[in-house]
Amino acid sequence: MSSSGREVILGVGGGIAAYKSCDLVRRLQDHGYLITVVPTPACLNFVGVATWEALSGRRVLTQVWEDVPGVAHIHLAREADFILIAPATADLIARIVQGRADDLLTNIVLASSAPKMIVPAMHPMMWLNASTVENVSILRSRGFIVLDPDIGRLTGSDSGAGRFPETGRILEEFHQMVGENADFLGRKILVTAGGTREPIDPVRYIGNRSSGKQGYAIAQAAIARGAQVHLIAANCALADIEGVKITKVESAAELESAIDEDFEWCDALIMCAAVADAKPVRRDSQKIKKNALSSIELEPTPDLLAKAASRRRPGQVIVGFAAETEDHLANAEKKLQDKGIDLLYVNDVSGGAIFGSDMTRGSVISKDGIIITVSEGKKETLANVLLDQVQNRLSLPNV
Ligand code: C5P
Repeated sequence: MSSSGREVILGVGGGIAAYKSCDLVRRLQDHGYLITVVPTPACLNFVGVATWEALSGRRVLTQVWEDVPGVAHIHLAREADFILIAPATADLIARIVQGRADDLLTNIVLASSAPKMIVPAMHPMMWLNASTVENVSILRSRGFIVLDPDIGRLTGSDSGAGRFPETGRILEEFHQMVGENADFLGRKILVTAGGTREPIDPVRYIGNRSSGKQGYAIAQAAIARGAQVHLIAANCALADIEGVKITKVESAAELESAIDEDFEWCDALIMCAAVADAKPVRRDSQKIKKNALSSIELEPTPDLLAKAASRRRPGQVIVGFAAETEDHLANAEKKLQDKGIDLLYVNDVSGGAIFGSDMTRGSVISKDGIIITVSEGKKETLANVLLDQVQNRLSLPNV
């Protein structure tokens, strides 16, 4: 088992549907899985090693003879958290049933105890043949998850049961095997995190104490629930999250352009970043001398959240954050209304708590008056509480 818990071997059999698995590699990567492709030698008649290596960014082997000192079949079998075979041909299924080990993929299947899912694709006559029917039932009795192929148009003029399922269905079934709640599958979430820095001169800035931990926790939770996630990080000293597209920004102006770029794309914007309320009117190109620093002229930054809310399309959900030291709920309700957003989490920052911590304290309020109080909880827990509320709103008919 790998340390990431997300190592997937994608076995690809020698059927024409192999070309559809190229997209599957990409979509699995979008969800944070690390993919090693192991094609059968027959697969290479349809899609070559170069394509699999370029897509996965990893070396691709088909035989145990190709990396003898590395003992690839044992090494890969040990590292795999999950094995997904898509497409699986009638021949590949038969070889697995018999316990054959005549290529790298079948060696790995024998040597690994990881959960295994098989996505068959073949002509209906082959799928419904008594041998295949019996082989599939043997694999199921041994704990393999074997999807039923789709019914529909096949490669030639025939149609029937045997079609390779759509990528979305494979991902959904795969997420279920992995044991994740994939309620955000197909959803696009834009998250901002951290705090902006407004330059005064080349060495100084106006900033704030936001660490970015809450925004990163939201991005992490959203990708684990199946979403595609874009995270805009303002000055966060945190490790990248596998599968999440991260854009790093410094100032409110850079944050604004990054949001502008992806706002159209997203189903929900979760605006966790602490945007500086004001910035210096001018940025000196040279370091300002100490004696000239008695005052800095400031101007307000645009309210990015209110701007997004004012140009949202029906159905798009917008979540804001606030930090208050007193009258939390009253201030939060006013902010929710003024900005025209759906949900707001108000951090109770009395005493300077929360900044940089893994814990949070505050309340979630929604425009329909729902209030959820988090008296002392992990930022990770709040992330899921907020995503539950976002999910509820995304499933409403367009509001
Ligand atoms: O108005 P206030 O700063 O308290 O509101 C906080 C919320 O508004 C946060 O979600 C923050 O990301 C957002 N905000 C913004 N643009 C600003 C100031 C705050 O989008 N200039």
